[in-house]
Amino acid sequence: MPIIRRARLLAALMESPFLSGKRPPASICVAGIHGKTTTSAMIAHVLKACGRNPSFCIGGHIPSLGGNAADGAGEFFVAECDESDGTLVEYAPTHSVVLNIEEEHLDYYRDLQGILDAFAGFVENTRGRVFFCADDPNTAKLCERHPRGVSFGFAEGARYRVADHRHTPDGSRFTVRHAGATLGEVKLRLPGAHNASNAAAAIAVCMTLGLKFDEIAAALATYRGAERRMEVKFESGDYLVVDDYAHHPTELRATLEALRGLGPRRIIAAFQPHRYTRTKFLGRQFGAAFAGADKLVLTDVYAASEPAIAGVSGLTIYEAVKAAGHPDVEFEKDLDRVADRLLAAAQPGDLIAILGAGDIYKVADEVARRVRAGQVGAQAHQSAKTEDDIFNDLRAQLAPETVLLRNEPMAKKTTFQVGGNAQFWCEPSGEDDLAKLLAYCGANRVPFFVIGRGSNLLVRDSGVKGVVIRLAHASFRAVEVRGERIFAGAGAKLHDVVMAARQASLAGLEFMEGIPGSVGGALRMNAGAMGQWTFEVVERVRFMDYCGRVFERPAGEIHYEYRGCPLFRDHIALGAVFKGVPASRETIENRLKAFQQKRWSTQPRESSAGCVFKNPKEIPAGKLIDELGLKGKMIGKARISEVHGNFIVNDGGATAADVLQLIEFVKRRAREERGIELETEVMILGD
Ligand code: EPU
Repeated sequence: MPIIRRARLLAALMESPFLSGKRPPASICVAGIHGKTTTSAMIAHVLKACGRNPSFCIGGHIPSLGGNAADGAGEFFVAECDESDGTLVEYAPTHSVVLNIEEEHLDYYRDLQGILDAFAGFVENTRGRVFFCADDPNTAKLCERHPRGVSFGFAEGARYRVADHRHTPDGSRFTVRHAGATLGEVKLRLPGAHNASNAAAAIAVCMTLGLKFDEIAAALATYRGAERRMEVKFESGDYLVVDDYAHHPTELRATLEALRGLGPRRIIAAFQPHRYTRTKFLGRQFGAAFAGADKLVLTDVYAASEPAIAGVSGLTIYEAVKAAGHPDVEFEKDLDRVADRLLAAAQPGDLIAILGAGDIYKVADEVARRVRAGQVGAQAHQSAKTEDDIFNDLRAQLAPETVLLRNEPMAKKTTFQVGGNAQFWCEPSGEDDLAKLLAYCGANRVPFFVIGRGSNLLVRDSGVKGVVIRLAHASFRAVEVRGERIFAGAGAKLHDVVMAARQASLAGLEFMEGIPGSVGGALRMNAGAMGQWTFEVVERVRFMDYCGRVFERPAGEIHYEYRGCPLFRDHIALGAVFKGVPASRETIENRLKAFQQKRWSTQPRESSAGCVFKNPKEIPAGKLIDELGLKGKMIGKARISEVHGNFIVNDGGATAADVLQLIEFVKRRAREERGIELETEVMILGD
């Protein structure tokens, strides 16, 4: 199979006559060390809002665009172009944007000159205008003499100039001047001078493409940002939790400065360094990057598939930050404990910022969840309700058909058959009761967790404080076939969906046979098998937010990935519409048989939670564990299966502690011997 570099493929796509556009599209390529996702997203958002229906390919998920890429029917193609691997020269854009250039990716480039040369090639290949930021010295030097250069930014001489920039409680405002005349005012929902500059780039590009300033400004006022770019995860009168991708010292400074602009709040930040090489080469620069944070929790390096470098770790940055005189910095090696540290320190009025490009987004989700449940700072234990109160209140408020139990053993509710008790167990009778339950938990700071059939779940031995919810009531379990579509509630078994499809002679869902989960669990995890995954066959989803509001959305507007769907980190799946393809019963049955046979011959039959780890890019986790010779390794009654290395089986009487120790053991061996960072696929629940 030919393998083509991403940049070359993207460049070819932009020229492609096969796109929906009626004529070869005009391409707009956005490059720069920082801000390219936001700027390319702003341009695509404005073009879309103004009816130009652009094609775009952006390196982040943009909710207002319904994803990260689309083939639009219009004449423009907007692309974010990455400089990290020297492929910038592959592009031959109609117009280009250069945001900023500085030392970065020193694993690839020998020095700053190497990076400058790459950008010079990009500029040279541009056939139309080169939009460049006049405030960035390296960029200005490279582009200011360009015959078709158009500058933007705060600088006095910028052609599209940001003036009178002000922070507002919900973002920022500024005036745009063009060649000496005032064009008008822009309201942006994003804070920070750097975002005003990014917006100026979008305005310069879109006006050049023929749009009017007023329509551009109106569209920018509705831009809500990209995931993990100053993303507000939780907001209340007391707390603001923000998640951001910043991982370079310049980005960290800009992000923290922008967050400061939101008002006089104390900022508590956590940062996960990204890549050993960046930590090594820019270690000293990180020292001064956190002056904008009142308190900082640093954790260890996210390897991003790089091998470890001796003597380089999160402590490298910790030492640099301390040496730069930061008054309050701590180091927490274990990412799973970062949320505890942040929450223990937080007080009402604080802004909690979670920063980094690795898997620290999980900490942002965890912090948002726990702040929402009131498990923060001194308030953490302030729920005025006793356990009896909670039980009695809920029993009185919920319908008689709703199941509500106390001290329910979770070992019974999971395929692993380990774990302590749930303080409360609830099976709501329908969506109304689920909404009532969520409202009660929110108002009374009672934590809650929604689980599926417990087939991908490890509950800790100490059990779960709060309410564990399962959508097991008949009202959530319906499966109905209408034409080529199968409507299924979140509580339905995947097996029932597959059987309904078979009965109706609808093919395409066979891979789900044998996944022991529910529809809700499969959506949350984007569960998969046999090289396929859930979202490939889902057409629509129905879900509830934690305020009890119900939504329905086409699957095409939902961001999902291998073994994950971020939407369901803070929303509850209620059901889905699956789409099958008509086929003969025989074809379907043959495929079901083949898949069952593969499963039974390659996977163990003892109690387990399926695959424990996600497959890393380098090698399937099972193969890796096999190659490391870890099959058969036992801790207590938990054992790595001899049949498949990515399964931990319960030999009868295993504890969650046994399993967790075995997981840590495997992770350590994979890290030490192969430089691979394994990530758990099983959900771990409990105190
Ligand atoms: N392999 C070994 N040794 C082992 C296990 C596997 O060498 O002990 C090799 C196999 O020979 C094969 C490769 O590793 O060449 C991949 O193995 P397999 O085909 O079993 O697939 P997998 O990647 O390990 C994935 C899913 C399973 C799903 C199967 C079947 C993940 C983490 N796992 O396993 O999903 O059932 O494919 O399609 O993506 C689950 O998610 O819980 C799960 C079980």
